Amino acid sequence: MGFLRDKCLIFPLNNETLKHCRPFSCGDNDLDDFFSRDANNYARQLLGKSYCFRLEDDMSEVICAFTLSNSSIDARNLPNSRRKKLTENIPHEKSLSSYPATLIGRLGVSREYGGRGIGTELMEFIKQWLLEPGAKAACRYLTVDAYNNIQTLKFYETNGFKLLFSSEQQEREYIGLSPERELKTRLMYFDLIFY
Ligand SMILES: CC(C)(COP(=O)(O)OP(=O)(O)OC[C@H]1O[C@@H](n2cnc3c(N)ncnc32)[C@H](O)[C@@H]1OP(=O)(O)O)[C@@H](O)C(=O)NCCC(=O)NCCS
Repeated sequence: MGFLRDKCLIFPLNNETLKHCRPFSCGDNDLDDFFSRDANNYARQLLGKSYCFRLEDDMSEVICAFTLSNSSIDARNLPNSRRKKLTENIPHEKSLSSYPATLIGRLGVSREYGGRGIGTELMEFIKQWLLEPGAKAACRYLTVDAYNNIQTLKFYETNGFKLLFSSEQQEREYIGLSPERELKTRLMYFDLIFY
């Protein structure tokens, strides 16, 4: 049982889909702008594919949207402790300099449908999707640059994601961000081997 599974259908989020839908708002202007204006070109440039779930009974209603891209976690520059944590379940002889991942570049749930478990159901869907036997490339981790606010971090933590860096200071050093600049996002990952 699930709202997305039982009441919605998935579509590519492109100009054709948008033509038939009412404006989508997840409450974050940058994300709303991206889905309504940029997602189509982003896909054409092969930078990320966007999808949305639409209500089966009213296809003009977009319930949630997300963007996925191929990515990787570069383990070489991680502090030792973080590298150990990341790869604790990978046999030693398989250690690589970087690990295959899929990045959730954008993700939002319609404001009208927030707080009902839809984001969590969407996350389950994405995890299962990446692990389908027909998938053409292996992907060990699901990653996200999560907005650095309590709600978003809690959302991803509830969904099994871990911070790649335990402290903001470590993350700033890794991405080369000076102390006076705001750390707007936190890198998080989910190990798909346990799914
Ligand atoms: C973040 C977002 C995707 C969550 O979607 P959702 O459907 O409301 O999430 P769920 O109902 O599945 O909530 C799952 C968990 O997330 C956390 N959470 C979600 N919204 C929260 C809020 N406003 N405050 C605190 N925790 C919150 C809670 O831990 C919640 O579990 P609980 O209900 O058992 O407490 C949605 O609020 C959204 O689109 N926000 C704007 C865009 C955004 O921030 N996207 C992420 C970009 S990285």
